[in-house]
Amino acid sequence: MTRKIVLSGARPTGDVHLGNYFGALHNWVKLQDQYDCHFFIADWHALTTGYADTHALHEHTISLIADFLAVGLDPEKSVLFLQSEVPEHAELFLLFAMNTPLSWLERCPTYKDQINQLKEKDLTTYGFLGYPCLQAADILAYKADFVPVGEDQVPHLELTREIARRFNYLYQAPVFPEPQPLLTAAKVLPGTDGRKMSKSYGNTISFADDPETVRQKVMNMVTDPARIRKTDPGHPDVCSVFAFHKIFSPDEVESIRSQCEGGQIGCVACKKQCAAKVAEFHTPIHEKRTELLKNPDHLVEIIKDGSAKARALAARTMAEARAAVRIGL
Ligand code: TRP
Ligand code: SF4
Repeated sequence: MTRKIVLSGARPTGDVHLGNYFGALHNWVKLQDQYDCHFFIADWHALTTGYADTHALHEHTISLIADFLAVGLDPEKSVLFLQSEVPEHAELFLLFAMNTPLSWLERCPTYKDQINQLKEKDLTTYGFLGYPCLQAADILAYKADFVPVGEDQVPHLELTREIARRFNYLYQAPVFPEPQPLLTAAKVLPGTDGRKMSKSYGNTISFADDPETVRQKVMNMVTDPARIRKTDPGHPDVCSVFAFHKIFSPDEVESIRSQCEGGQIGCVACKKQCAAKVAEFHTPIHEKRTELLKNPDHLVEIIKDGSAKARALAARTMAEARAAVRIGL
């Protein structure tokens, strides 16, 4: 039985937090049993926005391998690899760079947004503009059928499909299939201040945090601001602690709602309950990653093995792509 091919990647930009986990990784772990999965660390992608400051890149790469393994990505089930160890991504990117119209890249919705948002970085670079071509190469090198992405990444995937179609048409060779997005309703976990969980807001809980830090972060979370006394009726839908309960205490969530709305539970008690549930989930993963990080050489071995497997696959596609273009000997 041949399984459908899945591919996705994550940038090594810092510690994996619960928002990353519930937004993507949690889903990747489940996909491993159903698909032929390929998950990679997108270190070249990290350079598209982080080229000027690479001092932490290696450390972030190693810790991301540890986080991958600690949450349950399994090198026996999935190909886990590092993008820069598979130079075929760069070679395929080069071919796509030759025939992708500038206008396709310039109209990519995140392009202008990010240039405006990340004002402290100079993103008027060739590499940043061309990053959708690199992403297309990542996906098409493995002829992926499905790419698990969030709603916001769908336009990028559409661009990958256009790049595949154009290549096949220009060289009159059906080398690349058109990948489909795999949209799974991601569970949304807000940050500790109620905004989207993001490193730039300083509102994350990450797997690198020790259990005491996690407990304090939960105890300091923003709740319903209108609630002063325990007997005040609460509004759980505006409370980030309640959003956590929805994920970590699914069986108790309706009872918590009625106790909150009825003024029968105080926020401190509610947060204590939440902290216990978060710890139950977080502590084992934190301990696993801490253990794994004691032996970075072992992590490097695992990612080298995975990268060798990925390279063999990507090289097959690359041979077809070269032949289609009639480049080389
Ligand atoms: N662009 C993704 C991110 O910023 C990472 C990524 C790179 C990716 N190449 C990919 C995701 C290919 C899915 C498929 O996190
Ligand atoms: Fe939030 Fe719980 Fe306080 Fe209600 S009781 S406002 S759900 S912390």
